[in-house]
Amino acid sequence: MHVQAPPIFLGDASIIRQRYARLDSCLRGLWQPHAIAYSFKTNLQVARGGPFKALGAWAEVVSGREYNLARELGYPGARIVFNGPCKTDAQLTRALSEAALINVNDATELARLISLVSGASTVHGIGIRLNTVISGRKPSRFGFSIEQGEAARALQTIAACPALELSGLHMHLFSDHDDPHSYAEACRKLVAFLATCPRAWTERLAVLNLGGGFPAHTPRPRGRKQWNPRPIEAYLEAMVAELVSGFAEPARPVLMLEPGRYLVSDAVAFVSQIIRAQQVGNKQRLTCNGTLTMLPMTRYAPPLLRAFAPGLVVRAGPRVPTQIDGASCREDDVLYRGPFPRLQAGDYLVHYGVGAYNASLCPEFIFPVPALALLGE
Ligand SMILES: Cc1ncc(COP(=O)(O)O)c(C=O)c1O
Repeated sequence: MHVQAPPIFLGDASIIRQRYARLDSCLRGLWQPHAIAYSFKTNLQVARGGPFKALGAWAEVVSGREYNLARELGYPGARIVFNGPCKTDAQLTRALSEAALINVNDATELARLISLVSGASTVHGIGIRLNTVISGRKPSRFGFSIEQGEAARALQTIAACPALELSGLHMHLFSDHDDPHSYAEACRKLVAFLATCPRAWTERLAVLNLGGGFPAHTPRPRGRKQWNPRPIEAYLEAMVAELVSGFAEPARPVLMLEPGRYLVSDAVAFVSQIIRAQQVGNKQRLTCNGTLTMLPMTRYAPPLLRAFAPGLVVRAGPRVPTQIDGASCREDDVLYRGPFPRLQAGDYLVHYGVGAYNASLCPEFIFPVPALALLGE
C-alpha cells in the first residue's frame, strides 16, 4: 500500500475487528439475539473504507447524507438505523420504502411520519427514541421523555395508527460516559416504564437499541473531575442485569448497540512531521505540519503523543518544557504544551487514539482534510 506523506491519519483495521469481535462475543454471551450498528458520524473515513460491513454491522446514520452513503456502500435499508432530529419528508419516505429502522426523535416528527403513511396498505415498523432522567446528569434534548409522559403518549399514538407498529425502542444516554451505573439506571427505568404500558403497545417490539457512548482509551476529558473507564463488559453486564427482568427468553428483542468511539477511537493515529524546531527562552518551540483543526478533540481531552526520529526510533530523551504549534496561521493553533523529549525538524509526531470525531469535525481550513490510510484492510 502506498501511504502518502504526513499529515495523515493512519488506521489499523485489525484493532477495529478486535473491538468488534469483543463486543459481539460479549453481547452473544449475555443476551443472544443482538446486533451492532456502527455510528457513521464518528468517523466517515472509516465508514467508507473500514471493515464494518464485512463484519456484519448495521449502519447508524443521522442525516440524509449519511443514509445515502450507507446505501452507496451497499447496506440494505433493513440494515440501516436512521436516527437524528432532522429528517426530511423525502428522507423518511425513502427510509420507509427501504425498510430502514427509523427511530423517531420527537412528537413533530411522529406526526409527519403518520401523515406520510396515512392510507398506506402496508404496516411499517418504526422505532422511537426515549430519554430518561439519569442521576447527576442534565436531561437530554433528544427523544420522548419517560418522566414527562411523552413516551407513553408516543406509544399510544403509534398503536392507534393502522399503518405503523412499534418495532424498536432506542436510547442513547450521552457520549463518552464512564459510569456503568448510569447505563444500569437507564435500563432499570426503561424496564419499569414498559411494565406500565399495555401489552398491545409493545407486542411487536423487535429491537432494543441502547445506543453508544462507551469510552475508548482516551485520557481524562478536560471537563471531568473523575474518569474511570471500564472494560466494555462492565457496561454490558450492568445493562443486561437490569434488562433480564423485563424481557423473558425466548421472545427477547434483538439487543442492539450503536457505538462509535469504542470501535474506532484507538484504531487510528495521526502522523504529522516537525517542520521547525527552535529554542525560545527555556522552552523548546516546535511547529508541525498538522493543525489543531485536524485534531479538534484535543480541546476535549489531552493528546496521547509520541515522537520518532526519521528512522522510526522513538525519541525518548530527557523531557524539556515544550510547546508544539500547528501549521495554520492562527496564534491559538497549539497542539501541546508540557514536558516533551527534544525533537528536530523531520521527526514524526504521532497522536494516538484519534479515530473518533477528529476527521469528521475537521474543516478544510487552509489545508485539506488529511486522508486516512487504513492498514490491514
Ligand atoms: C444517537 C447516537 N448514537 C450513537 C452515538 C455514538 O456515540 P459514541 O461515539 O460515544 O459511542 C452518538 C454520538 O453522539 C449518538 O448521538
